[in-house]
Amino acid sequence: MYKIFDTVDEVSRYTAQRLLAKIKAAPTAVLGLATGSTMEPVYAQMLKDIQQAPVDLSQLTTFNLDEYMGLSAQHPQSYNYYMYQHLFNQLNIPARNVHLPDGLASDVETACQAYSNAIEAMGGLDLQLLGIGSNGHIGFNEPQTCFNSRTHIVELSEQTRIDNGRFFDDQNEVPTHAITMGIQDILNAKEIILVATGSNKTEIMAQLFASAIDEALPASALKQHKNLTIVLDREAAALLPEQALKSAV
Ligand code: F6R
Repeated sequence: MYKIFDTVDEVSRYTAQRLLAKIKAAPTAVLGLATGSTMEPVYAQMLKDIQQAPVDLSQLTTFNLDEYMGLSAQHPQSYNYYMYQHLFNQLNIPARNVHLPDGLASDVETACQAYSNAIEAMGGLDLQLLGIGSNGHIGFNEPQTCFNSRTHIVELSEQTRIDNGRFFDDQNEVPTHAITMGIQDILNAKEIILVATGSNKTEIMAQLFASAIDEALPASALKQHKNLTIVLDREAAALLPEQALKSAV
């Protein structure tokens, strides 16, 4: 299902409301979270909404999608740091319920398996929030990742390293590898919300709409999912065919 809004503000309000509605309906919910520019206004909106109408987060569990390898939790460009800055520092989710892949794990293979196992042990993700890379990646699952993948190490594509270079002082500082939940972990979520905003997502959203389910375009795996909402602003939706816009609610 597509939801298309005029502005990023409206996208963020809708997405924040969906996340909060899930938590209110099930205080023990398990959420899969994403980082990146797209999520910044979503998390800011969530914080605003929670300030206005407090929500019990004491039983909530979260699992983030991914983390750069080689960056500590204190590194300002790590996804751990991002999540605390944009969300967790302002919320009362118990620290033991918050999970991110460890970019400094000494035994990465074991840590990856343990991450997918921990999600399963919680009964799976109730709702997974996703952004999308300009090359169609979800999490850090780059093109050609197996759709049955679990949490694993990835070598970041050149495109992703260029796209994410904007967060680093120097392009050479962008890590070459990351840990990401696998596509199967994502597909196992009971509900998925993919958010894309802005003109740098116009092209990939049109490609995704037109694409068959194909490992060359990781996000196309989501087309198999029974409960997927794609939330876009007008810019990201600009090249969607009439057919898609008509079915949007
Ligand atoms: C981040 C993540 C990535 C981003 C994607 C879009 O945790 O999993 O897939 O969602 O790279 O990033 P932005 O929102 O910065 O365009």
